Amino acid sequence: MLTPNSPKMNEKDFVLEVEDLSVIRSGKLVISDINFWLSKGEFVGIVGPNGSGKTTLLLSILGILKANSGRIRIYGCEPMCQSNDGRVSWVSQAASNLPNNLRITVRELVKLGTISSRNMFSRNRNNSAVDNAIEMVDLKNEEHTDVGRLSGGQRQRAVIARALASEADFIILDEPLVGIDREARNSLLKLLDELCHDAGKTILMVSHDLAAIRQTAHRMIYLEESIKFDGETSEFPELTEIAELRGIKPVHDESGQHQH
Ligand SMILES: Nc1ncnc2c1ncn2[C@@H]1O[C@H](COP(=O)(O)OP(=O)(O)OP(=O)(O)O)[C@@H](O)[C@H]1O
Ligand SMILES: [Mg+2]
Repeated sequence: MLTPNSPKMNEKDFVLEVEDLSVIRSGKLVISDINFWLSKGEFVGIVGPNGSGKTTLLLSILGILKANSGRIRIYGCEPMCQSNDGRVSWVSQAASNLPNNLRITVRELVKLGTISSRNMFSRNRNNSAVDNAIEMVDLKNEEHTDVGRLSGGQRQRAVIARALASEADFIILDEPLVGIDREARNSLLKLLDELCHDAGKTILMVSHDLAAIRQTAHRMIYLEESIKFDGETSEFPELTEIAELRGIKPVHDESGQHQH
């Protein structure tokens, strides 16, 4: 396991390096002292309460939000640097909440994932990447269906296929499990696990679903303004310890009586 305290590996082994990051939004310090590193093939889950800065962290990694201080490197260069074009893909929060009247087929949506600034004006889009992505998420039978007609779980798969079609090595997902049923969630987690193990992708996923992340991610980060835990999933604290980390005091004593 690599924790912020572990000796750093050779820089070229890292997919992502975040050092002493802090981000201010609307004058408020949202995240601070963030230090962690990701290596190739890791599947890392980020958990934390509402408003704890999870999306802010992801948007900073993507280069959408500017760091107030600190340093972020993806494959050794700054977020959004040209040499990383196409190497990072992003599935946004509520990405599957696409409007029901959206007249775009699954295949068309997935194909949008193959557009990058390099090939924007080229006719030569990567059709095999589109085929593979649709195959991977098991939507071959629906490839000509309008996205608006899909179930929540299928939509989430379509959005993930769009990310896969870019053939990015580093996939960042913000709450991909929201609004999908148990079966869809399990198959999505299995897919992400396979992407890590079989396709060598590196995955950073934010989710409220602690149980689901615990079943899947190799490593977990608990974020609440700063990183309160970063370690192997098997060592993730129990709920009472999390409450302690967050400074939440029990309102009942051992006899079940309210404490005053
Ligand atoms: N556009 C914005 N401008 C200013 N502050 C913002 C903005 N977006 C979010 N914030 C604030 O930043 C903090 C962190 O928000 P963020 O969206 O990163 O949290 P989160 O952990 O992703 O929450 P959730 O679990 O609800 O998605 C919150 O206090 C929020 O109010
Ligand atoms: Mg969020």
